[in-house]
Amino acid sequence: MPLSSSLDRVLARISARYQDDPYQLLQMLRAVQASYSHVPQAAMQFLARHLGVPLSQVQGVVEFYAFLHETPRGRYDIRFSDNITDQMLGARTLMQRLCERLGVSAGVPRGDGAVTVDLTSCTGMSDQGPAALVNGLAVTRLDAARIDEMADLVDAGIALEAWPRDWFAVRDNIRHPGPMLELAMAPGAALKAAVARGAASTLTELAHSGLRGRGGAGYLTAHKWRFCLEAPGVQRFVVCNADEGEPGTFKDRVLLTRFADELFEGMALAGFVVGARQGFLYLRGEYEYMLPHLESVLERRREEGLLGSNVIGAGFDFDIAIHLGAGAYICGEESALIESLEGKRGQARVRPPFPSVRGYADKPTVVNNVQTFIQAAQISAMGAPWFSSLGTEKSRGTVLLSISGDVPRRGIFEYPFGVTISEVLADCGATAVQAIQIGGPSGHLIGASEFGRRIAFEDMPTTGSLMVFDWSRDVIAVVQNFARFFQHESCGFCTPCRVGTTVLRQLVDKVADGHASAADLVEIEGAGRVTRALSHCGLGQTAPNPVLDALTRFRPAFEARLTGANGDPGFDLDAELSEARQMRGKETQHGG
Ligand SMILES: Cc1cc2nc3c(=O)[nH]c(=O)nc-3n(C[C@H](O)[C@H](O)[C@H](O)COP(=O)(O)O)c2cc1C
Ligand code: SF4
Repeated sequence: MPLSSSLDRVLARISARYQDDPYQLLQMLRAVQASYSHVPQAAMQFLARHLGVPLSQVQGVVEFYAFLHETPRGRYDIRFSDNITDQMLGARTLMQRLCERLGVSAGVPRGDGAVTVDLTSCTGMSDQGPAALVNGLAVTRLDAARIDEMADLVDAGIALEAWPRDWFAVRDNIRHPGPMLELAMAPGAALKAAVARGAASTLTELAHSGLRGRGGAGYLTAHKWRFCLEAPGVQRFVVCNADEGEPGTFKDRVLLTRFADELFEGMALAGFVVGARQGFLYLRGEYEYMLPHLESVLERRREEGLLGSNVIGAGFDFDIAIHLGAGAYICGEESALIESLEGKRGQARVRPPFPSVRGYADKPTVVNNVQTFIQAAQISAMGAPWFSSLGTEKSRGTVLLSISGDVPRRGIFEYPFGVTISEVLADCGATAVQAIQIGGPSGHLIGASEFGRRIAFEDMPTTGSLMVFDWSRDVIAVVQNFARFFQHESCGFCTPCRVGTTVLRQLVDKVADGHASAADLVEIEGAGRVTRALSHCGLGQTAPNPVLDALTRFRPAFEARLTGANGDPGFDLDAELSEARQMRGKETQHGG
């Protein structure tokens, strides 16, 4: 099919901008999507030919990412954040209102091509929801008045630049700052201290600090950097994971806004220590609005000699490029993130080898969370004791919590590790708390009897998200939201996760609808165990957590919803459960 001359020109410009580099395929497809509200077949064919990659690969990338489409979306593409905390603030009612005002069904472009209204996973604005993305840009604090005005703006075809600016304002909401958030560090201080100390001693300093990664597993940062340094090879890379897709988490958003200098300094520090010359910031697509700010900080740091060649005159080179994601939670998993950085589908790799040995372009690569790099820079500037004197034996330093849900004070709270959940809840003004979800949906749902537990790797670890649910909330509805999230975000590569997340979602829906039996609860336990044990990557391995947690800790809420639980005098739950377990046992023995 011949390309239209206009599409031809746009594509030639896009591929030239990205220097015809296949690793930039995702960035090119994002640019095409932005220009045409979809990626036309002709564009995929052009890019496949031009970059020398199979057409099936280009199509596979378009299919994989939620923000890329093969058929046109509306010229205004509006996506409401569907996290449970946005739902609790009325997001779905507002979306319904907008659909009615615009005469459009969810997910289906309007006949005149003007608008699409849809849902998306958490947009990282749980402290200021209900939130949405409009053509990729975050809009916060939505209410009925804003929705009505939005409908008028869409109908009148007003350009996004002319929409009220305060709709796009994203607040930092730092409520309880601690030593990390209060530290004012001069640009270059961490690098100068590192150069004065030498790379090897800087690594030792980092080891003495006890810094553990703030993105998930809590791996010791110094160990990771040492593995990368000692891995065979000449070329090395540094990657910052700013995907922050865990629903309810927004600490990295605030850090990227307030501490971009410290972040880039931490990445350059890693480059100095392991001998890398190139860094990448992988920024989740939902944070596209930050791009101009981050690019301007990078540019200023180049002008100041803090990036580029001969950084701070110390004879080493290091620069950073920003890559945008396109709506895939799995791309937060470090090996999937690297695939995505290479322009591919975000599919988790088999590990080992870990990225520190074989990462970006199969070269040794340090991958760390935003906060980890910032803390590494602070440790270099301030010394290990400044950091290690805080926290607990196995969890040094402080933890940043993103608090949302049923609390009067939503936002960022910093504490030394070891703080109890009760102390945190008191500080954010939470009362009558039924449950909290800590660490996002892949973390844990716990009730009041455990609020004396300590937030630390040795007790209750967290990636930062803490969602609060009071007694007005239905725990089953919370779990239902998380089960849907995991089913939606499963990349589908391996059967245990693809099927397991679907089965779990269906079973939780059944419970919520009041159609489940005792056998279904036994089925949930079985499906959860299998999904956890057999899934290929961390997404599937943690997807059953909220359902299994809720079933253990909030069992009465499930049992009260079973068919027969209300009003059937012959209903004997214990007998039904025991029979269902026996049946399940027999099925398992026979390979079921
Ligand atoms: C499904 C999934 C999503 C993840 N999302 C993130 C994320 O958004 N940000 C992050 O830093 N780590 C995330 N991780 C953890 C990363 O794989 C990796 O452990 C982390 O980036 C390492 O950095 P750290 O050592 O500084 O914690 C995720 C892991 C999984 C399994
Ligand atoms: S566990 Fe889930 S997300 Fe991970 S590879 Fe398998 S299907 Fe994909």
